[in-house]
Amino acid sequence: MKTLLVFILLFCFGSAEAQNKSINIPPESGMLPSARIACGPWIQAVGEDEFTVVWTTTIDAAVWVELAPNDGTNFYHEERPKYYHSEYGRRLTGKLHRVRITGLEKGTTYRYRIFQQAVLINEGNKRVVLGEGFGSDIKDKKPYTVTTLDRDKNEVNFSMVNDIHGNDSIFRQLTSGVKNQPTDFVVFNGDMLTQIESESQIIDGYLNSAAQLFASQIPFYAVRGNHENRGAFSYEFFNYFPSPNNNAYYSFRHGPAYFIFMDCGEDKPDSDIRYYGLSVSDQMREEEAKWLKQVVETKEFREAPVKIVVLHMPPFGNGWHGMSEINRLFLPVLNDAGIDLMLCGHTHKHSFVEKGTANNNFPVLINSNLWRTDVSITSSGIRAKLVDASGKVLKTYSINK
Ligand SMILES: [Fe+2]
Repeated sequence: MKTLLVFILLFCFGSAEAQNKSINIPPESGMLPSARIACGPWIQAVGEDEFTVVWTTTIDAAVWVELAPNDGTNFYHEERPKYYHSEYGRRLTGKLHRVRITGLEKGTTYRYRIFQQAVLINEGNKRVVLGEGFGSDIKDKKPYTVTTLDRDKNEVNFSMVNDIHGNDSIFRQLTSGVKNQPTDFVVFNGDMLTQIESESQIIDGYLNSAAQLFASQIPFYAVRGNHENRGAFSYEFFNYFPSPNNNAYYSFRHGPAYFIFMDCGEDKPDSDIRYYGLSVSDQMREEEAKWLKQVVETKEFREAPVKIVVLHMPPFGNGWHGMSEINRLFLPVLNDAGIDLMLCGHTHKHSFVEKGTANNNFPVLINSNLWRTDVSITSSGIRAKLVDASGKVLKTYSINK
């Protein structure tokens, strides 16, 4: 009984200590709490003239990003321009921060630093007090860098993972090396979680590892799989992963390739009991098909030497409603658009569906949930290399133009 009591006291004391640590009180600021980085940063929505930095803090904060050219000068050489998390002319506070930086040059590397100030007191119109600013370390570590997209680049290299379903261990193994090879960006092609019920599921499932391993410097584009539609926190998906056009589907040119990132919607009919009457995937896919028809008519798309589509669910009618709708709505448009390669996941099994196999006018590469696909594109063709978690090359494909 005595031992049990001692154990309970130790446990309680330990918890209190952990709580004190979690509010992160540095001695230099007295007893005032400071906002520190909880997760991130991770780079999103990179374009030719912009990118967005996202991160979370331990407590509510007001934040900014400082930007410097990659010109060899000390970051402290001069005051750097500040970019804030703001909407409609006012800075936002909270624990999740998105700072969009625009007006940049294409194909250019920039250095950046993130800052946060704790919200010490927020009494509305009466009084708001912010704490001192804490920035990412640029004294002992190099500042983060990010490179904007560039349509004039000769070669594009990117890596894709999918169907991780919260298996952080396999995610780490698959992505730990992407920063050591030429990687313009990483693609998360859906079903990174089975459902999204909380922020911690996203962070613990793969995001913290992504930020640690590459995403503070190498952007990733996240497209939803069917599973990212599920769970109470799934509505927050695009707050963590803002897209280039604030929509679930988007497109951009980089190097010789034009990329169309598509959203697959749910796999079952919207009336399925598990969607509780809240799914309108059919309507979204109809709207998406209209958008797709417009995209493939643009001069920018038609002039691109290589055309790539990223979509979680393959476009083959397999009897499931979602894939049948993708087959009905998207495939005819893409078949007439001169697509060179579609990249998919969903089946958890690798296959390469040759052009003409299932009424598809382009090849479809489906990546395994346990593999990473590395893609290299020049105007003369596409090379794809599929590797397992140990880095062993399992398959290669070449598509010549
Ligand atoms: Fe899926």
